[in-house]
Parts: sequence; structure tokens; C-alpha cells
Amino acid sequence: MARVLLTRRVPSSVLEPLRARHDLDVWEGDDAIARPELLKRVAGKDALICVLTDRIDDEVLDAGSQLKVVATIAVGYDNIDVPAVRRRGVIATNTPDVLTEATAELTWALILGITRRVAEGDRLIRSGGWTGWTFDFMLGTELRGKQLGIIGGGRIGRAVAAKAPAFGMKAVFARRDGVPSRGAGREAAAGSASLDEVLVSSDVISLHVPGSPATRHLIDRKAFARMKRSAFLVNTARGSVVDEDALVWALGERLIAGAALDVFEKEPSVHAGLLAFENVLLVPHLGSATRETRSAMAALAVGNVLAVLDGQPPLTPIP
Ligand code: DGY
Repeated sequence: MARVLLTRRVPSSVLEPLRARHDLDVWEGDDAIARPELLKRVAGKDALICVLTDRIDDEVLDAGSQLKVVATIAVGYDNIDVPAVRRRGVIATNTPDVLTEATAELTWALILGITRRVAEGDRLIRSGGWTGWTFDFMLGTELRGKQLGIIGGGRIGRAVAAKAPAFGMKAVFARRDGVPSRGAGREAAAGSASLDEVLVSSDVISLHVPGSPATRHLIDRKAFARMKRSAFLVNTARGSVVDEDALVWALGERLIAGAALDVFEKEPSVHAGLLAFENVLLVPHLGSATRETRSAMAALAVGNVLAVLDGQPPLTPIP
């Protein structure tokens, strides 16, 4: 019987196969597990199931020197020092695929929400500021006939692009350094352009690259200066991809029409400058937050741990 630490409560049905065969220690707190508690509890564990708010680095790996597997319940793994995990011969896994549709749906919710001023209208009504229907009141932007620029041609970017025709939009994928983006398949081949061309010509720009040193501040002052003044930026990828100071600057200079953000540079704090703009839609990292998807993510992480503890290859190792 192996010892497993889980740093967040997940639906108990998902845990049954794990509890049946192993000794499971679950952090039951409402907030994220505190660092000292994580360091204490990971000692002597064979497997760690964590979430994206847990920083898994040398300190945690030293404390958990018996670990065989670190399974994050997320597709993104920028919270994990993957080389440090691998140096110790520990297997790292994530949860791709199962959250693709949920994240794509949220992306479209943000696209529609920001272009049709949904949250702004809600705020107005709640504040008692609505005085009645008028012809030219709170006009938004229509999607039909517009271009959706997708930066990041992986699963989620492709799933977002696949829904574009339903709104009469043409999706165009950004190539990085002249190379089609990762995972670019037929959809990308059908419409791809250089990153700069996508920035310059898109009406909505949606980010779907992983958070990494290579993508940090990919959207910076220079990028904003290339966008149409009527363009909207949507980020459901990672906060680090957008330089938030630059975004606040671009909004202040009216270089873009608005932004919809699910992720932030320093979660859970949000750049104070962003709060001042009505044309910014802010959502608290909800990309994969549906009951169905969160259960599927947790089940996949459990499947990964069970496989490794059984001496089998993990189902979805971090690539
Ligand atoms: C992920 O899986 O990386 C998402 O950001 C979680 O919502």
C-alpha cells in the first residue's frame, strides 16, 4: 500500500479506486494548502496529486524524497519545476484533453461577453444606473465577418477555432518564427499567418500558448501597438503571457477596444489598473471550471497515480 497526498478536495467518487488500494491523505482546507503544511505532509509520500496553485520545486521534492509521481490536476504545468522532478527520476503528469472543450467554451463566453458588453450591462443594472432602452445605448461589436486570431495551435486553440464558423468568424492561427504552431493540423493549415500578421489583422485575438519563459510577455507594448484599435484581446492561457502593465497602457491609450481575461500575472491579485476600465472583462481562472471537467481532470490525475504505483507507464505524462 502506497502513501498518496492530495492537496485539494475533489469529488469523493473519483477517489474510490485510490482509497481502495492506497493510503490517501487529503488536504481538507478551504484554502490552498500552506507551504509549511505541504512540506510536512509530503514527507514519506509515494505520490503527490497537486493543483496549479502548489509550487512544486526542489524544496518540495527534497521534503518528499520518496515520491515516484507528481500528478497535477491541470493541463498547464508552469507551477512545476519539471527538470527538477525528472532529475530525481520522478514522473510528472498533467491532465490534457479532458478540459479542452470546457476551456474553449469559456473562451467563447469571454469573446461574446466582451464584444457585447455583458458584464458591463450587468454592473449598470445592479448599480441602478439603467434609465431605459435607447437606440444607441451600449452598442457592441458584431462577430460575423470578423477574424479570430489564435495564438497557440494546441488542443484548446484548435477547439476555439472549430467554433468560429458558428459565429461567422474566420479563424487564423499564428505561426511562431515562421513555423506552424504546435499541433497545427488541417485547421491551422487552412488559415495561418505570422504572429505579426495575426496581431495586425485580427478583430479578436485569443491566447492559447502554455505559460513558460518562452511565452512570458509575448503580448507586450510592441504587440499592442500592432493591434487594430478595434481589436479585443482574450486570455484563457496563462497570465504571464500578457504584460499587464503594457495592457493597462494600451487600454489607456485606446490602442485596443477591450480585453477579457481569465488568468492573471499574479493570481489571485489583479493589476489595479485593469479594474478602472469598463471595457475589461475579468473572470477568476474558470477555464476548466465545470463539474464535468473538474471531475474528469481529477479522475485522470488519479489514473496517472494508479498507473505509476502499479509500475505501468502514466496515462498522460508531461511531454
Ligand atoms: C489548466 O488546467 O491549466 C487550467 O488553467 C486549470 O483551470
